[in-house]
Amino acid sequence: MNKKILSDCIQQLFANSKGLLAMDESLGTCNKRFAAAGIPQTEEMRRRYRQLLITTKGLQDSIGGVILFDETIRQKTDDGTPFTKILQDAGIIIGIKVDKGTIGQPGFPNEKITEGLDGLRNRLQEYKTMGARFAKWRAVIRIGENTPTQGSIEANIHALARYAALCQEADIVPIVEPEVLMEGDHTIWQCFETTERVLKNLIYQFYTQHIWLEGIIIKPNMVISGTGAAKKDTANDVAEFTVKCLLASIPPAVPAIAFLSGGQSPEYATMHLDKMHELFKNKLPWILSFSFARAIQQPTLDCWKGDDKNIAAAQKLLLEHAETNKAARQGNYIPK
Ligand code: G3H
Repeated sequence: MNKKILSDCIQQLFANSKGLLAMDESLGTCNKRFAAAGIPQTEEMRRRYRQLLITTKGLQDSIGGVILFDETIRQKTDDGTPFTKILQDAGIIIGIKVDKGTIGQPGFPNEKITEGLDGLRNRLQEYKTMGARFAKWRAVIRIGENTPTQGSIEANIHALARYAALCQEADIVPIVEPEVLMEGDHTIWQCFETTERVLKNLIYQFYTQHIWLEGIIIKPNMVISGTGAAKKDTANDVAEFTVKCLLASIPPAVPAIAFLSGGQSPEYATMHLDKMHELFKNKLPWILSFSFARAIQQPTLDCWKGDDKNIAAAQKLLLEHAETNKAARQGNYIPK
């Protein structure tokens, strides 16, 4: 492990209040979002959409790195230029999703385990030759009547740590994403308790598996009530619960935390990030940034609709949402 390579990459990703754009939707997820927007679910349409995203002029001012999917990292623009070259020329660092998605965990009804460790050492080398400097692995934790179980948390966290170790060995920065899902009717308190439990287990597992904490990025959910919860949270609630939970669980040695948006609307996700910086400005020991997919992309996708006459308007929206999140990282977001 070359610690300087890992540290430099992390600092570059988040320099000047930048964040990350997750555009690593798996085939199934991307097709589902295309179907909802009335867009044909083909490889060519996915290529055209991702081309739209990465060719947005000025994106590099607010986005330090993008997370790609295996199909996307191999794709080219209309004129045959590899996507990876477009990104490198713009100064945007290339990341890659390396997990292979979730399946039901045997013996644990209603819980999932993430696959993808087999062959990962070789896949990381291949992605590295394509220019990838950081990676992502997502585990999902569901709050339900009898979940999450300790058995499922431990299995998922163990896999996350094994993935992180392989990345660090390859000088690739691991983004470690244990997502406590928003689906459900749980309260913000329940989300706090589960997120804290998951993150504390994660840090312990990092310790036992010899992960270099200074060379990782953690991508957690915000602490927030479930989508079906009776009571809605204020921005202050989300900011206070989230920062309190992170301070209790994540040591200052970890250099950066970058949130997923998890199905929050773009406005809410941005407002919540902004409020954390406004309220806790001088109390955050790590970089606190964003690694959003839907909260940056959704308005762009809805505007594009698969029709190239909408490209300019869609790119304008992408840029706007990337910029508002950069502002939120500084506590300077002004809602429209
Ligand atoms: O794995 C999930 C993505 O990287 C983040 O997606 O911001 O839509 O939750 P999201």
